[in-house]
Amino acid sequence: MSIKILLDEDEIPRKWYNLAADLPTPMQPPLGPDGKPISPDALAAVFPMNLIEQEMSTERWIDIPEEVLEILYRWRPTPLRRARYLEKALGTPARIYYKDEGVSPPGSHKPNTAVAQAWYNKAFGIERITTETGAGQWGSALSFACALLGLKCKVYMVRISYDQKPFRKLMMQTWGGECVASPSTQTRAGREILEKDPDTPGSLGIAISEAIEDAVSDESGKTRYSLGSVLNHVLLHQTIIGLEAKKQLEKINENKVDVVIGCAGGGSNFAGLAFPFVLDKINGADIDIIPVEPTSCPTMTRAPFAYDHGDTAKMTPLLPMFSLGHGFVPPPIHAGGLRYHGMAPLVSQAIVEGLLRPEAMGQVKCYESALLWARTEGYIPAPETSHAIAAVIDEAVKAREEGKEKVILFNWSGHGLMDLMGYEAYMDGRLKDYALPEEELMKSIASLEGLPKPPIRKTGRW
Ligand SMILES: Cc1ncc(COP(=O)(O)O)c(C=O)c1O
Repeated sequence: MSIKILLDEDEIPRKWYNLAADLPTPMQPPLGPDGKPISPDALAAVFPMNLIEQEMSTERWIDIPEEVLEILYRWRPTPLRRARYLEKALGTPARIYYKDEGVSPPGSHKPNTAVAQAWYNKAFGIERITTETGAGQWGSALSFACALLGLKCKVYMVRISYDQKPFRKLMMQTWGGECVASPSTQTRAGREILEKDPDTPGSLGIAISEAIEDAVSDESGKTRYSLGSVLNHVLLHQTIIGLEAKKQLEKINENKVDVVIGCAGGGSNFAGLAFPFVLDKINGADIDIIPVEPTSCPTMTRAPFAYDHGDTAKMTPLLPMFSLGHGFVPPPIHAGGLRYHGMAPLVSQAIVEGLLRPEAMGQVKCYESALLWARTEGYIPAPETSHAIAAVIDEAVKAREEGKEKVILFNWSGHGLMDLMGYEAYMDGRLKDYALPEEELMKSIASLEGLPKPPIRKTGRW
């Protein structure tokens, strides 16, 4: 019995998988301020054209450039591991496998797209990239990628995480990135928010507005913005995770996966593992595919499917997605990367279609699960990842109760070695669960009023 299933470098997937080619109902387009579908040119000040083309592509398979693969070889293919010790502790007949994305230099799945995005920017002649970061994982991944490709990187980091996670900022600086707390006084969007609410903990929506403003106001034309999740091309770059996992499962003759699980903030690590399995489900396979979010930021489980902006200052086009409203400032829970008001349009459409079964978890249960994991498997997960682990444990216990030998696969999206303050708060008994109250939810989604409404399109097959 293998507990580490490895691939050689020459077995790495050489193409990314694009779910937009196979969704039974086509994606609805992003809209501009006039409510009409935007043209690629409308995004040209924000992203390089080669990534805009990828964003809009409906090609099923897209070649991974050789130079991107050469950087990914530093840590890819990542191990597929079997959580044998957790299985034993739970007394479950389920076989639990996980993709270990924590082995990348910054410690998460984020560099899979950071490297690709930095490479495409460089190929387009861009010299500097701006971005936002929540927990700091994305900012450190992009700083790392920019260091390897010789680009400058500026990161707007959500204030609450900037204060809670000083080591992430130091990682960014070590890779040559510049990191400021958001909202900052360096952009008009940041100054306006600080004037209204000087003590705001910040949000990803605000930090995105600042990073976009910074990019589009560079008159040299050599700066672009980069997003670490949500958009189609970001999810595309992450599918290398699920494609590797399929090869690894084949190697050990594990031919049927019953449950696929990932935590979901903007949706990228979940999609990266799950989309190749969503294709199997579209083609008839019986798989339960579960994205997991926090109860404090219940985008998939309680928010409407709407057209909304990706940022607070309404600089992005309107995206068709589940959204808590662009003004949503999430409570300062410890899983910083799961505090985003929206959900990737591709993930959202797959939910509308009934292909996915979203769940929400409270943070106390997540830390309890993370501790059980650390004390059985040994590795300390990121607080975001612990949401997936909590759902895995629920499914493994269900398998025990039903006496079923299920195969459960999940994405171990990152390690938590920079996130120990959250563990300390949990172990000291200071962490509380927080479910978003209904009146807060209603207040927040009121910002969607007046925006166009996407029709709910589904085949009814699932
Ligand atoms: C370790 C880890 N997992 C998950 C996430 C959530 O992001 P996404 O839903 O895009 O994978 C983050 C985001 O910062 C993260 O750092």
